[in-house]
Amino acid sequence: MATQRMPALQSFIDDLRAIWASDSDIGSCMEKAKPLLEKLVGNQELQDRSVDWPSTEGRKNLLLYVDEQYEFAVNAVVRVPGRKGSVHDHAHAWVLYGVLCGTESLERYERIDDRSRDDFAQVRMTSVSVGSPGKVDLVPPFDIHAEQGGPTRSVAIILRSTKLGDITQRQYDPVTGEVRPGPGPTQIPFELTA
Ligand SMILES: [Fe+2]
Repeated sequence: MATQRMPALQSFIDDLRAIWASDSDIGSCMEKAKPLLEKLVGNQELQDRSVDWPSTEGRKNLLLYVDEQYEFAVNAVVRVPGRKGSVHDHAHAWVLYGVLCGTESLERYERIDDRSRDDFAQVRMTSVSVGSPGKVDLVPPFDIHAEQGGPTRSVAIILRSTKLGDITQRQYDPVTGEVRPGPGPTQIPFELTA
């Protein structure tokens, strides 16, 4: 018999599948998914269970679920205190970040050069939002941003419209303007059982 998933995660997945079944616009699906992720990251049992999840330092993601039919993926990241995040995009993927434990800040950037080169970009920070447990941010495709750790260990649950790892994303150096294409985070399968 197949292992049972943690009920809160299973109902999150079931609700997502119902959204994806009734709407073919991925951006619209992600907007509709935002309150579901807010509910999931407000779940006390999940918050309690995340206290011993392994660190994902070294550009890793815990991979909780991939939907074979609709392609969306559920990840978790576990950040060390004071973690410095790179400035990057997620290529064509939509992403919802939900903070489960601790605090993180999401920096958003805009590109201010003429976009004439693929290997150079001037970027400028436009906003910083601090996330605490229950807070969810939507990051559209190709939006340039960075996630920064807070003063304590933090954990986030991430819903992505497609699994990253094999997709080429870009990192931006805000000082030199260098743009570095490369693979996304390494995906570490991580089961959350009942
Ligand atoms: Fe990101």
